[in-house]
Amino acid sequence: MGVEVSLADKVALVTGAGPNIGSGIALALARYGAQVACNDLQEEAAAACVRRIERHGGEAMAIPGDVTDEADVQRYIDEVLGRWGRIDILVNNAAILGGRGLLEESLEFFNRAVEVAGAGTFLNCKHVAISMIERGIRGSIVNILSSNAWQGAPGVIAYAFHKGGQANFTRAAAMDLAPYGIRVNSYSPTAPRPDNPELLAELRTSGGLRPGPQSPPDRPPWWREPGRFDVRRNMPMEPSTPTDIGHCVAWMCSDYARLITGCDFVIDGGARAKYWGYTPPEEKAEPVALIPLYDDETMPGGF
Ligand SMILES: NC(=O)c1ccc[n+]([C@@H]2O[C@H](COP(=O)([O-])OP(=O)(O)OC[C@H]3O[C@@H](n4cnc5c(N)ncnc54)[C@H](O)[C@@H]3O)[C@@H](O)[C@H]2O)c1
Repeated sequence: MGVEVSLADKVALVTGAGPNIGSGIALALARYGAQVACNDLQEEAAAACVRRIERHGGEAMAIPGDVTDEADVQRYIDEVLGRWGRIDILVNNAAILGGRGLLEESLEFFNRAVEVAGAGTFLNCKHVAISMIERGIRGSIVNILSSNAWQGAPGVIAYAFHKGGQANFTRAAAMDLAPYGIRVNSYSPTAPRPDNPELLAELRTSGGLRPGPQSPPDRPPWWREPGRFDVRRNMPMEPSTPTDIGHCVAWMCSDYARLITGCDFVIDGGARAKYWGYTPPEEKAEPVALIPLYDDETMPGGF
């Protein structure tokens, strides 16, 4: 019998627990034994995440609210403390994806995207950490980054700015909280393949994860196309899923990781390690099979 990773007796708070990565992480934390508070700006997204956890016998509560509004953040943290008395795990997942490149981005979008990632992560870290310190809890905080925290891509100037900022925020917060035994790490998703059956059903009717980049109709004559992405082709192995991410984040929040702080984690099939000029062969052996969180959460094929 091997060792068992368990989050039993721990309480987690996941921000932006919408149907994709946040919901996958929340479900995994519940599967590993935690009680999970699911936040989202959209009330229905938070409620759907709670239903997904409860369907499998887990314990969850919805805490809708805006991560950038300090009164809101304090209110939903108090709701979690009122119900479960503690918070051991915080996952800062809420973000605004998409956007445009430097030459086309609006100040309004830029500022709001930075606010959600920056102020959202700051406020949740600050107030959850204080709640941990007051209760003597040596908890774990995980900030969700992106490949865009580490590498430059065209068309996402706000995203690149706030994800890169969150990378060093993570290290600095790890230093601020180390004296209290609280760990702060980051996880960088790399174009994961959605695997939430409800989201997949929706995507199959809507045709995509989110609208593609929107271009202004009247680009100036000097405009040059920025090139193209071939995300899947450039992965030495295959793309991960939110389930893979959930397994990793659950382990990062377990006591086995007690001295891991200020680190970034990836499950990217070797993408970030890859020499930039190298294109992997198309023919690859499949990795070992994904261990599903629950049998009915396995969706062959993905999106
Ligand atoms: N999907 C990807 O390919 C990918 C790749 C790399 C990194 N990421 C990161 O993973 C995380 C989750 O991505 P996703 O694909 O699940 O995105 P998503 O858009 O499906 O989920 C983000 C959620 O955050 C919520 N949110 C936005 N503003 C908020 C606010 N002010 N307060 C509370 N909630 C708010 C949204 O309502 C949404 O449900 C994000 O941090 C994203 O940047 C995603």
